[in-house]
Amino acid sequence: MTPEVVSFRAGRLTVLDQTRLPHEECLVELADLEQVERAIRTLVVRGAPLIGVTAAFGVCVSLGGQPARPAALDYAPEVFARLRASRPTAINLFWALERMERVVEALPDSGWREALEREAQAIFRETVEQDEALAAHGAPLLESGARVITHCNTGPLATGGRGTALGVLIGAHNAHGNLHVYVDETRPRWQGAHLTTWELAKAGVPHTLIADSAAAFLMQRGGVHSVWVGADRIAANGDTANKIGTYSLALAASHHGVPFYVVAPTSTVDLALSEGSAIPIEERAPEEVTAPEGRPLAPEGTTVWNPAFDVTPAALVSAIVTEQGVIRGPRYDLRKSFGAARVLAGTATK
Ligand code: MRU
Repeated sequence: MTPEVVSFRAGRLTVLDQTRLPHEECLVELADLEQVERAIRTLVVRGAPLIGVTAAFGVCVSLGGQPARPAALDYAPEVFARLRASRPTAINLFWALERMERVVEALPDSGWREALEREAQAIFRETVEQDEALAAHGAPLLESGARVITHCNTGPLATGGRGTALGVLIGAHNAHGNLHVYVDETRPRWQGAHLTTWELAKAGVPHTLIADSAAAFLMQRGGVHSVWVGADRIAANGDTANKIGTYSLALAASHHGVPFYVVAPTSTVDLALSEGSAIPIEERAPEEVTAPEGRPLAPEGTTVWNPAFDVTPAALVSAIVTEQGVIRGPRYDLRKSFGAARVLAGTATK
């Protein structure tokens, strides 16, 4: 049984500590703003949709811990500012906080804690439901017997539901069987090696772990039918920010004529940004590269550049799978796709 990735019951926020997987399945309680902020920043919880869900519950914990509504309202600006600053790239964080902020702006006098929890639970529920729709829309893009590559972790651990790209893969495997997933180890934080392999093993999906740098060679050898990744933020033109290494994978896929699919809920789409160059890219501590898992590799003082994400140009993305349907590239106009009340209703659109 996979433990619950996140839960909020009787005012208590509990998460599975992803930094200890796959060796220990350890639940931790996040009891205040400080702890929620640290858990997001240090990747105890990670993955764009799960960051959004955790932040929403984090607002409940932080404000709900105040003795009364006026104190909660006084504290709110600090809570939102600190949570917004915890990780800059995943737009789901900002999307979830905006929804919570709207509740705070109209916070009722009585039942205010319940009002906050209702919205956070709705965000969580919608995230889980969207995952179901992603899996349904993505599955037809996979043939039985497909060999695929994935990068980073996009499974249940990344959302609290079925997952995004990995949700599609696990769902398709359960439906037609016979899928084989190559898992990029995903340096420098090894989400592929630690988390994706763990999830695939639990789901009974055959898989092979590869060094990130083996992916292009695997494609050259004809070993891969398609590439499946998630996203942390997608600009209106389809440019996609995802875990560092995604862009290299897309370049290799394009060179070898391998379809490259991005799977993400519409809460990951940032219609305010015209193109990917405007997406803020988180840079993380040099030690993640010089001393992975605390084991020094490089000489002390080595200069490091450690962007946590890169941006894959839309032209390299064969299709974007959302909960509303599949949008095919290589040109995207997501303002047109998702603006106004247009619903894609599961049909492939140009
Ligand atoms: O730094 P992380 O582990 O939060 O990065 C996660 C990813 O890049 C995922 O691919 C992305 O969030 C999409 S999966 C839901």
